[in-house]
Amino acid sequence: MGTGSPRQADALVFFGATGDLAYKQIFPALAAMVRRNHLKVPVIGVAKAGWDRERLLDRARDSLRHHQMLDDTTFATLAGLVDYVDGDYEDPDTFDLLRAKLGTAKRPLHYLAIPPSLFATVVGALSKSGCARGGRVVVEKPFGRDLASARQLNEVLHAFFPEDSIYRIDHYLGKEAVLGLLYFRFANSFLEPIWNRTYVSSVQVTMAESFGVQGRGRFYDQTGAIRDVVQNHMLQVVALLAMEPPAGYGHGDVRDEKAKVLRAIPPLRPANVVRGQFVGYREEDGVAPDSQVETFAALRSHVDTWRWSGVPFYVRAGKCLPTTATEVLVRLRRPPEAVLGQDRSGAPNYVRFRLSPDVTISLGARVKAPGEAMVGNEVELALHEQAAGAELRPYERLLGDALRGDASLFAREDAVEAGWAVVDGVLDGSSPLYSYQPGTWGPKEANALMSDRGGWNDPAPAAQP
Ligand code: BG6
Repeated sequence: MGTGSPRQADALVFFGATGDLAYKQIFPALAAMVRRNHLKVPVIGVAKAGWDRERLLDRARDSLRHHQMLDDTTFATLAGLVDYVDGDYEDPDTFDLLRAKLGTAKRPLHYLAIPPSLFATVVGALSKSGCARGGRVVVEKPFGRDLASARQLNEVLHAFFPEDSIYRIDHYLGKEAVLGLLYFRFANSFLEPIWNRTYVSSVQVTMAESFGVQGRGRFYDQTGAIRDVVQNHMLQVVALLAMEPPAGYGHGDVRDEKAKVLRAIPPLRPANVVRGQFVGYREEDGVAPDSQVETFAALRSHVDTWRWSGVPFYVRAGKCLPTTATEVLVRLRRPPEAVLGQDRSGAPNYVRFRLSPDVTISLGARVKAPGEAMVGNEVELALHEQAAGAELRPYERLLGDALRGDASLFAREDAVEAGWAVVDGVLDGSSPLYSYQPGTWGPKEANALMSDRGGWNDPAPAAQP
């Protein structure tokens, strides 16, 4: 990617360069961009760690090795772009040094891979030092802890950057399979006539993870499943499933339609939410021994629009479940009773989107079983299948878009706030918390939420290669 376009950033600054996110996501994304010849701008890491540039490069090398992305050519090119500023975010000298390192850059992209409590300090200092001028900023989730704090955070950011220069990352939006869902919905004319309350009986999304909090106990115990993945990733998927066709060509229009869906979801009430905590969570490092934080959440909701009125939308997400997979299941209504002596016990038709780790789009149907009786079997027609790991990494996609100045796949202020408005009423922990054994599908109370006769769809484990 060159630096010619007027929107193209001419430097990438990332705060939190010595941290976890940089190690897990940013260095691999940068290396992938280098390999595709998509990264041509200086990259400046900033942190307060007492490190120098060499130490940061060692860390980058470790990260690439860990992610099996280390090769001499890529590393040499990346190293040629990387610089480092070590300093306190409270100290104006840090930002003066950064401004000096930015040299003639006029459109820097500042990536804040730091805790939200530091956002105000850093954006304020960026502005004072002149580093913000002409630039834009990428912020990581969580965008606040609830509706009020998300609004505050947006106010802080808006004091220094206009909304179209603020890029809020929700990495789910950079996933190929999630974009595939959006494409499938609007690229197939057979779908539109049935994609509504007349034909759809329920919609459900399950995000299952077979692992626990993986050393993130301290963060997780202040977050919980609803804040961590429901308010953002899950609601974004619901929005893509339920949105109206965009009015125009381009993702700005998609963002408008998604925001409308989120505004049409009534605020959740405790009666429509089941929270769970896996047995053993309280022994994790950084977790309070009497923690009431949920590692599992299931909820029943609605999208109160003309298209979806009366159709239940179910969402379930949890840690330490039997497998790691995210799936959407859209069940269709059954055909009328007893036509052709049809048996009533089988599953209704459905559309299934498996979003990760492998990607599938399939249709569930019924066909006649051989024999005299007019009874059927369930069959599944796979329309699309893609093995795990074949796609662009979400962070590579999103960082590339942010550098290019394309905000389409980033969460907009109104959508983020609408997402918080949906969950705000169930964040105070007042709904009961049930424990569940690791390796199960969460507390059995979640089944009572589900009124669809087919129950929850438990995603199957990924096929072994
Ligand atoms: C993150 C959450 O946003 O998403 C994690 O903080 C979660 O708790 C992760 O594990 C899941 O993302 P992915 O892309 O690995 O399915």
